[in-house]
Amino acid sequence: MSNSTNATANLAVPAVQKEIERRRTFAIISHPDAGKTTLTEKLLFHGGVIHETGEVKGKSGTKAVTSDWMELERQKGISITSSVMTFDYNDLRINLLDTPGHKDFSEDTYRVLMAVESACMLIDVAKGVEDRTKKLYDVCRYRNIPIFTFVNKLDREGKDPLTLIDEIEKTLNMQCYPVTWPLGIGQRFKGIYNRLNKKVYFYDQRREDDLAVEVYDFSGPQDPILEKYLDHESLQQVRDELELIESALPPFDVNDFLTGKLSPVTFGSAKQNFGVDTFLQFFTQFAPGPKARPTKKGTEVNPLSAFFSGFVFKIQANMDKRHRDRIAFVRICSGKFERGMKVNHARLEREFRLSYSSQFVAADKETVDEAYAGDIVGVADTGNFAIGDCLSTQGYVTFEDIPKFAPELFAKLSVRDALKRTKLNEALMHLSEEGAIQLFFDPIIGNQETIIGAVGELQFEVLVHRLQDEYNLEVKLTRLPFSVARWPRTEDGKPLSQLKGNFQMFRDVIDQPVLLLNQEWDLNWAQKENPDVVFASSISRA
Ligand code: G4P
Repeated sequence: MSNSTNATANLAVPAVQKEIERRRTFAIISHPDAGKTTLTEKLLFHGGVIHETGEVKGKSGTKAVTSDWMELERQKGISITSSVMTFDYNDLRINLLDTPGHKDFSEDTYRVLMAVESACMLIDVAKGVEDRTKKLYDVCRYRNIPIFTFVNKLDREGKDPLTLIDEIEKTLNMQCYPVTWPLGIGQRFKGIYNRLNKKVYFYDQRREDDLAVEVYDFSGPQDPILEKYLDHESLQQVRDELELIESALPPFDVNDFLTGKLSPVTFGSAKQNFGVDTFLQFFTQFAPGPKARPTKKGTEVNPLSAFFSGFVFKIQANMDKRHRDRIAFVRICSGKFERGMKVNHARLEREFRLSYSSQFVAADKETVDEAYAGDIVGVADTGNFAIGDCLSTQGYVTFEDIPKFAPELFAKLSVRDALKRTKLNEALMHLSEEGAIQLFFDPIIGNQETIIGAVGELQFEVLVHRLQDEYNLEVKLTRLPFSVARWPRTEDGKPLSQLKGNFQMFRDVIDQPVLLLNQEWDLNWAQKENPDVVFASSISRA
């Protein structure tokens, strides 16, 4: 049999391929307050999932699937968990993965970005490229994910668009391609020009909640239609800007976009639901579908393959406290998922049946019987899944690792009732499998005094809250002086338990040797004493 016949024989049937090809999976990255929740709501509204805005945060009285630590999120006004929202638009099935905006949960966001094919960078027109956006952008860049840019809050005063584009290009070292151009800004924001279809869209921002958009063909910067809507000052500025961008910019290069070198920029006001549909139309035209995913063996899995494969990128426990449930979020990488199917679990080298599965729509979850490469399914977990686990119906597939990052904050916990120590250890293990914290052990003391590592302060706060709320454990948290964790390795990556110098070695949750140090200075010292050792700052599961 020739290779090509072989390849065809391994592909899914045409109907399944068609489903896979219409999947688009993306995430929004932004600094808190840029308008991610508002934009998400409007996207779901256009996708017909919600019929009025205000539903995403879960109004009182809705049957939102929440737990009390989500309540904590709400009290603090931040988004801690990453949920998945699915909607249809222009014949495409779009999966939007939410990312936590707070910096203390950046690891969660990194994992989400492993599960998407593109991202939308949301920027507040007044604030420009903010700190968090830059960090998240760097992760996308590292993975070469194509990035759309949506400049938000045009109904407020802000930076003029040319300055903003220049700022994005310089700060992020990436080219921008304005797909739309704003006609005025702040109170004088009257509409946008869509450079691809050469139409202008006008709206009246005073008519909030009653969006009436007027659309005209546009002949160019001197088109008299601008005079009807723009005041003298805006008119001149808009004409100058349009003359400049129309003459100076090369046409949109899809390849540069798909390789992450160029970002198409659209402008709008999420709050006023203006410019969001233009973004969506552009998104559906250019966002890439499921891509071949590299495995640890150096091969790739074609998303259109007949066999099912996927990996766990997030685990969430106790979404419903009464049932102490745990859900593993699986990104499907190839083929078709069917509820009840048997899959091979590569790490445990065992077969599992995926009997209970769900998909999420805003705050509701519903049972899903079928899903395709590109989709995310939540599968019930009784403690067998950990982040990075790979599942497949054909052999044992292992995709590239999801890295864990070195924590910078450390603490120990004591429990009031000493008899509850075992229960505490169990709870900590659950939360570590979820990726909520990292655990370290002193080999002499063992798990009598587990060391907790976190990337951000708020993780500790959530930990204490969840131990109390979900496990009924009252704990006292004491901070430890460490601030650096490093995994000593040989140059070819083998774990090292012995170092020269007086350094105490700890163990991580998968029993790898790890060095916990008080400060960067100690690390420099360790490196000086052990010049051939690699002190890795991120680890992958062994
Ligand atoms: P986040 O998820 O990125 O943190 O931001 P979120 O959507 O919660 O929006 C943050 C604030 O910015 C909200 O105001 C929201 O209404 C406002 N906002 C979002 N998009 C726009 C926009 O296009 N124009 C204007 N003018 N404001 C926008 P808030 O005062 O915190 O809440 P609210 O009372 O308005 O709901």
